[in-house]
Amino acid sequence: MAKRIKDNDWKLVPAPESKDHVRIDAEYKLFIGGKWVAPKSGKYLDTINPSSEQRLARVAEADAADVDAAVKAARKAYDTVWSKMPAPERGKYIYRIARLLQEKAREFAVVESMDGGKPIRESRDFDIPVAAAHFFYYAGWADKLQYAFPARNVSPLGVAGQIIPWNFPLLMAAWKIAPALACGNTVVLKPAETTPLTALLLAELIQEAELPDGVVNIVTGAGATGAALVNHPDINKIAFTGSTAVGKLIQRSVAGTGKKLTLELGGKAPNIIFADATIDQAVEGIINGIYFNQGHVCCAGSRLYVEESVHDEVVRKLKHRMKSLVVGDPLDKNTDIGAINSREQLGTINKYIKLGQQEGADMYQSSCDLPGKGFWCRPTLFTNVAQSARITQEEIFGPVLAIQTFRTVDEVIQKANNTPYGLSAGVWTDKGSKIFNLTSKLRAGVIWANTFNKFDPTSPFGGYKESGYGREGGVHGLGAYLNLS
Ligand code: NAI
Ligand code: MG
Repeated sequence: MAKRIKDNDWKLVPAPESKDHVRIDAEYKLFIGGKWVAPKSGKYLDTINPSSEQRLARVAEADAADVDAAVKAARKAYDTVWSKMPAPERGKYIYRIARLLQEKAREFAVVESMDGGKPIRESRDFDIPVAAAHFFYYAGWADKLQYAFPARNVSPLGVAGQIIPWNFPLLMAAWKIAPALACGNTVVLKPAETTPLTALLLAELIQEAELPDGVVNIVTGAGATGAALVNHPDINKIAFTGSTAVGKLIQRSVAGTGKKLTLELGGKAPNIIFADATIDQAVEGIINGIYFNQGHVCCAGSRLYVEESVHDEVVRKLKHRMKSLVVGDPLDKNTDIGAINSREQLGTINKYIKLGQQEGADMYQSSCDLPGKGFWCRPTLFTNVAQSARITQEEIFGPVLAIQTFRTVDEVIQKANNTPYGLSAGVWTDKGSKIFNLTSKLRAGVIWANTFNKFDPTSPFGGYKESGYGREGGVHGLGAYLNLS
């Protein structure tokens, strides 16, 4: 019989990625009209490395006057250059961004992991390549927009205000900027306050690509900066990814203004395992679905529904696999689970872990070592969870899985849809007919079959219900940045 793995049986030799090729400045200003401009208030925020709690840089905090300057720069670039440029020329600039990003991929990956806490394996193999792929993909559409919408007239919207979160900082910037530029809009982007650095490196790269001044403006800051962008009267479109609470606020602010809006908000995705699934493959999919990126994923498979007859086998194999997950230094290539993004987010996750126990569910955590400094959370699962439990209903945004069982297809569809969210779902079964049945009945924007957390620029992404509206990615993603008549 194979030797059973005990906790911490895996002692891996450290394999840290080098930081030698990375330059992080002590201070970053605002990127407005193609120049680096000091914030009018003179205020700066610190961005820290969540795995060491050390400051990486001071980053400007834009107020309403700075946001106004950025919107004016974007408007001027739109009126005088970008909307007048022949579409194939626009495409060439976007291709140039894509190529430069590919060339600098290693630097971007290291900075992404330092500023946000995600494992280098993910930033290197997922975030940065997929961000570059979005620029390549949308560059190709720039001169073909009329073919995306046959028999319609297409025109850009104008200036887009874009607000992004901290879980995929560069990737979310790419999701927002690439289609907006391809469609002929100019943009003002606000990165999240805990992870501004790769967006600022992107601003440097955009300078290097010689994009006309003001086509892309990047203003850093926290919620008030985002609100100033949302409320600016000369914005034509707001694109937001973040919490449902802030999404609702934004929706109220733009009501009646004529600004177009797309929202990509929270999620509580069901991951459904039928007894006829390949269980070992499903276990890997469950692990990837919830522990990928510390569970800081709006489409994370945070609710697991297992057909009753295989529940014990699935839970036993899951626990076994969790024991081998390495939690620690984001720059180490062996790390599976990096640092939690901020002290606040760790507080939220720990609150839910406590709540799950108080609600009467059974908790299991691996007993791996954790570093002394920084924000960390062991991979966690709960069994014997009620459908009404708060850990089943509410978004935790951390490496915490709530497991329930089901007996019939109708029961699992009913349970899976019983949430205010509807962003994504997963189905694991050997039967194609079951997949088709579930994909037509689950209320979720993306449904993965026998896989999880797969992304491609050609594929649209977005939610139902309180997960938001509008689609990003693919041809659908173009529609969000165009007037169609
Ligand atoms: P958040 O929604 O406050 O932050 C997202 C972005 O919105 C940041 O750039 C932030 O500065 C900006 N923002 C904050 N208040 C704003 C306002 N009033 N007007 C305009 N922009 C504003 O999310 P937060 O507080 O960082 O995380 C809280 C929870 O939200 C997480 O625990 C998680 O459940 C969820 N979340 C969901 C994300 C998703 O991808 N759907 C991403 C991040 C968080
Ligand atoms: Mg940071």
